[in-house]
Amino acid sequence: MTDLVQLTSDNGVAIITINNPPVNALSPDVPEGISDALDQIAQNASVKAAVLIGGGRTFVAGADIKEFGKMTSGKSRGPGLLPLLLKIEDSAKPVIVAVHGTAFGGGMELAMAGHYRVAVPTAQFGQPEVKLGLIPGAAGTQRLPRLAGVSKAVEMCVSGNPINAEEALKLGIVDRIIDGDLLTGALAFAREVAGKPAPKTRERNEKLGNATENAILFSAAREAVAKKQRALFAPVKAIDAVEAATKLPFEEGCKFEQKLFIECLFSEQSKSLIHVFFSEREVSKIPDIPKQTNVIPIQSAAVVGAGTMGGGIAMVLANAGIPVLLKEADQSALDRGLATIQSNYANSVKRGRFSPQVAEARLKRITPTLTFGDFSKVDLVIEAVFEGMALKKEVFQQLDRVCKPGAILASNTSTLSIDEIASATSRPESVIGTHFFSPANVMRLLEIVRGKVSSKEVVATCMQLSKTLGKVGVLVGNCRGFVGNRMFGPYRREAQFLIEEGAGVEAVDQALSDFGMAMGPLATGDLAGLDVGWRIRKEYRHLEVPGIRQPFVEDRLCELGRYGQKTGAGWYKYDDQRRAAPDPAVGELIRKWVEEAGIAPRQISPAEITDRCLYALVNEGARILEEGYALRASDIDIIYINGYGFPAHRGGPMWYADAVGLKQVYDRICEFQHQHGEIWQPAPLLQQLAEQGKTFAEFGREQGASA
Ligand code: NAI
Repeated sequence: MTDLVQLTSDNGVAIITINNPPVNALSPDVPEGISDALDQIAQNASVKAAVLIGGGRTFVAGADIKEFGKMTSGKSRGPGLLPLLLKIEDSAKPVIVAVHGTAFGGGMELAMAGHYRVAVPTAQFGQPEVKLGLIPGAAGTQRLPRLAGVSKAVEMCVSGNPINAEEALKLGIVDRIIDGDLLTGALAFAREVAGKPAPKTRERNEKLGNATENAILFSAAREAVAKKQRALFAPVKAIDAVEAATKLPFEEGCKFEQKLFIECLFSEQSKSLIHVFFSEREVSKIPDIPKQTNVIPIQSAAVVGAGTMGGGIAMVLANAGIPVLLKEADQSALDRGLATIQSNYANSVKRGRFSPQVAEARLKRITPTLTFGDFSKVDLVIEAVFEGMALKKEVFQQLDRVCKPGAILASNTSTLSIDEIASATSRPESVIGTHFFSPANVMRLLEIVRGKVSSKEVVATCMQLSKTLGKVGVLVGNCRGFVGNRMFGPYRREAQFLIEEGAGVEAVDQALSDFGMAMGPLATGDLAGLDVGWRIRKEYRHLEVPGIRQPFVEDRLCELGRYGQKTGAGWYKYDDQRRAAPDPAVGELIRKWVEEAGIAPRQISPAEITDRCLYALVNEGARILEEGYALRASDIDIIYINGYGFPAHRGGPMWYADAVGLKQVYDRICEFQHQHGEIWQPAPLLQQLAEQGKTFAEFGREQGASA
């Protein structure tokens, strides 16, 4: 027996307890421990049945994800789970699996090999492998349809979403819900079934359906995947594997599943998604801020400005149970802001996201105000007024006067210097940037902008707050545009240059959306409002270096009042439902402007479009990394996936560049520099890593920022 698994007994029923905190992952030695326990149980005549249960807060939450990486590099040991699962199923004494917390992935597969399953009402069951670009690899696709039916098995393996105990009971995955103590209930169940013939899941073929119905079901599933999970590899394989369960004997089905699992495991998509999984956990590690750093309890908050962002941020706080004051400059703006919040909540209720009571309670947590009167009580203020330094400073001066010592004073600015804003206060150490993304109540990303003197407590509190708010907080430094928008500039610049050189509006967006971006760069501009960038460009025009090429088409569109979706026209035209359609008039205008500018149009391939736009992201990302405005390349990846619609299955821009090979990326950037001038000067770090044959990920590790 290994340390991770214990065997005890209770009046003729053996109890196998898995103790591998925190989530009882199936790390090496856990399967071996269960196997040893089964051997002892088989030899002990006084034992009539066995209960398999998880110690601590959950059953088995899944495989040990680190093991996947070891499998691809050939460092994994052991035969995998399959033989153990057969051994459980073949046990002459019934094995009752008792589930609390989660039975996910390998945990679900382990549970299904038992003869019976009992669960507490809060237990959850799922095969989430697809979220890591994988499919179940230990007969999950073969046993699940036998327990839950083909349709549900397809749904669960393709979506990766879990089901609760009640549904699992209805489907036949669970045999009994235990309301009281799980172990007591499981032991009682074990005594009822001890000595009786026990069903083996792999022999239960009655739910596998008939060929005609299955054919319809699988083709509908494939169609849905082609639409909703475009370009993803694993969901298709998950369908193939479940289909095999309906056509092949169990053992052959398992072999087929294994083959597909390996294909997935070695795919770039899976490696990228696993990278994203670990990177998301890595973001909260900040080298100079230890875990035990004091955090400031946030019991109440205030938001200044109830516009697009302020309203959304107030909702985010209220949704997390934090009462929030919402301050506006005048009554009509306040009324408008509140009306938008109310209608957002009403829409969520209509869509069934939560009940009217929940919406009501959330709305009640938002207290509208026109004064700073109650600001002295709050622990955190987030400012979201118009983007202008003078106004921001004025607001922060006022906050400095009214807020209690120790309160966090945060700005949602997307372009202005946090240090300069902080200089308007007598307590710059309490000032920080909390850069939400629009719509704030939907987008997961939160860039936390550390000022020169932001205190460690303030940073640690904001990092923790991001979790409370259901966001992924990434710490960035205070440079213009911070990380996300600073990189987005060159990306959108290239999209516009391509248009000026002869690519069509739809062709540019299509190439990037085929790459996997949630939206093309021009359509994204229309959504955010082209006037936003136009105003910023006008403000910073004096900083432009003469002789450096600047895009001009978007400014011309703005001069015509084409601001994007909000004015019904931008790069595209929009109907009153904001549905986009190509606008031939834009094509005509561009042709005219480009001709006037003396640029000869040329044919541009989709590959050039993606290289130009994506390598512009990567090159700027490399500068940010080198200058230390992002802690590690993977932080940049997390920013792009959660805030800019970068496809997770490509791992983020920096991971993508590593996958292409930095030498290749560097060479292509040099070509662009040759063709388009100094704007394409390669980042020194990119050049250095390319010459050394290294990756951005390795750079992070060498800096000691990454585990
Ligand atoms: P907005 O124009 O929708 O809202 C600004 C609101 O602030 C207005 O309702 C205005 O009445 C109010 N306001 C102005 N002065 C005030 C004062 N002294 N006291 C109280 N309220 C005052 O602007 P939006 O888009 O919400 O932007 C707010 C901030 O968020 C800006 O700093 C912007 O750069 C930033 N941001 C905007 C994003 C976006 O996509 N719109 C994304 C991320 C950040």
